[in-house]
Amino acid sequence: MIPIAGKYSTFAPFYDVMSGEYPVYRAGREIGIRALNQLPGTQVLDIGCGTGLNFSLLQQQVSPHGIIVGIDRSPEMLVQARRRAARNGWANVILIQADATELSSTDIGSRITAQGGRAQSDAVLATYALSLMKDWETAWANMVSLAAPGASLCVVDMQKPVGLAATLTPLAKAACWLGGSNIEAHPWTAVERDCADVKAAATRGGHLQIRTGTYNTET
Ligand SMILES: C[S@@+](CC[C@H](N)C(=O)[O-])C[C@H]1O[C@@H](n2cnc3c(N)ncnc32)[C@H](O)[C@@H]1O
Repeated sequence: MIPIAGKYSTFAPFYDVMSGEYPVYRAGREIGIRALNQLPGTQVLDIGCGTGLNFSLLQQQVSPHGIIVGIDRSPEMLVQARRRAARNGWANVILIQADATELSSTDIGSRITAQGGRAQSDAVLATYALSLMKDWETAWANMVSLAAPGASLCVVDMQKPVGLAATLTPLAKAACWLGGSNIEAHPWTAVERDCADVKAAATRGGHLQIRTGTYNTET
């Protein structure tokens, strides 16, 4: 069996077509990114950015003059993200290869500024990424350390469907298993715990959970 990191390396060129984007997962990222409500000119950090499926939606918010920073541990996923940026003529995308559970905000901050960005971002999001990380709480703490005071934070991730859609649980579990995600991780609970003004949403029978909030420096 291919380990999770290996899966994303091997299947990076096929990720966009294999990931169930249009029938299922696009809906979650659209809700989350809309809720971020970023102004043109701001900087957004996308943790576990993969092939950059969030980038076109983020561009609609931060352009012109804004910056998108994508961090992923897989060089092969970043190759796809870089191609997407080049194909679309997005010169404002900064890509950094790093493990989100091992980030040092000083190191990442200086790598971002070296490429024309700012050390701290006005918004930080993770879509379908934290549930892959065994130590997602550390990745969350690292996300927060790269957020500017008052930044918007957003987590979009997966759980078992609920209500009538619960009949689709085997399908949802299979999708998460294939992608290496822990369907029981529920990483959006960190937004509920650590943020103020939390907006909560769910779609696709509750399978996709979206939480957005403002980092609460008083917690
Ligand atoms: C399911 S994909 C989601 C990609 C993208 N966020 C999206 O919404 O399409 C998960 C991504 O998280 C990355 N990833 C997993 N563990 C990571 C870690 N510890 N640090 C950084 N990236 C990680 C994988 O390489 C992969 O690109």
